[in-house]
Amino acid sequence: MFISFEGIDGSGKSTQLVLLRDWLEERGHKTITVREPGATALSESIREILLSNRQSITPSAELLLFSAARVQLVEHIIAPALTEGRIVLCDRYVDSTTAYQGFGRQLTMADVAACNRLATQGVMPTVTLFIDVPYDQAQLRMQFHPAAGEPDRMERSGRAFFERVRTGYLDIAAQEPERCHVVDGLRERAEIHHDILNIVVPALVRCGLEKP
Ligand code: ADP
Ligand code: TYD
Repeated sequence: MFISFEGIDGSGKSTQLVLLRDWLEERGHKTITVREPGATALSESIREILLSNRQSITPSAELLLFSAARVQLVEHIIAPALTEGRIVLCDRYVDSTTAYQGFGRQLTMADVAACNRLATQGVMPTVTLFIDVPYDQAQLRMQFHPAAGEPDRMERSGRAFFERVRTGYLDIAAQEPERCHVVDGLRERAEIHHDILNIVVPALVRCGLEKP
């Protein structure tokens, strides 16, 4: 089973991923957590290039770099972990590319879809949780993050960009309601976690990982 977390930067998705991972582990499920871009040596190197403020990157180059990082992760980690029967928890996946490079950078959707097909190798999440928070709230949360530093290259993209990204996520969720669930992120951590369990537990049952 494969669960991805999505949302704009600072929405609180990493917090919710950890709460879900701990819940699953306590119930005896074997999980593996990965972040995108990252998790393999090559993908972490690409992450450094993508987030660094040292050089500019054109939108098309950005799309290809995110895709290269993803295909390495899928082939080396995600696909083998799924074959072993582990629950894969991914902090961002292919919907980030549709939302950020498609809606945010306004690249042609056919190009984004072609890269996504190649990068995922057809491996798609069972459940995607989109933690929905408005831009201002996400900005505020990022300022209070203990590891808060200078904004990275992506975080410098500005309000209009992130509003398009958020619209993009809502569009994906409307198109794929069975897979992609919108979770109201403007609440206490525990309440959001509770909502997420209400989505994930039935999926675990459908996958035969929990009893009805
Ligand atoms: P993301 O992974 O989406 O960038 P994080 O999970 O790192 O977001 O959260 C960003 C910041 O917001 C962190 O400081 C985190 O503690 C805080 N945070 C997370 N969830 C909530 C919440 N529901 N309410 C208030 N603050 C939150
Ligand atoms: P990260 O620090 O992981 O962001 P967050 O903590 O909010 O998850 O940085 C990843 C950045 O890369 C983030 O701004 C989203 C962006 N991104 C894309 O633009 N396209 C993609 O396909 C992926 C996976 C991430």
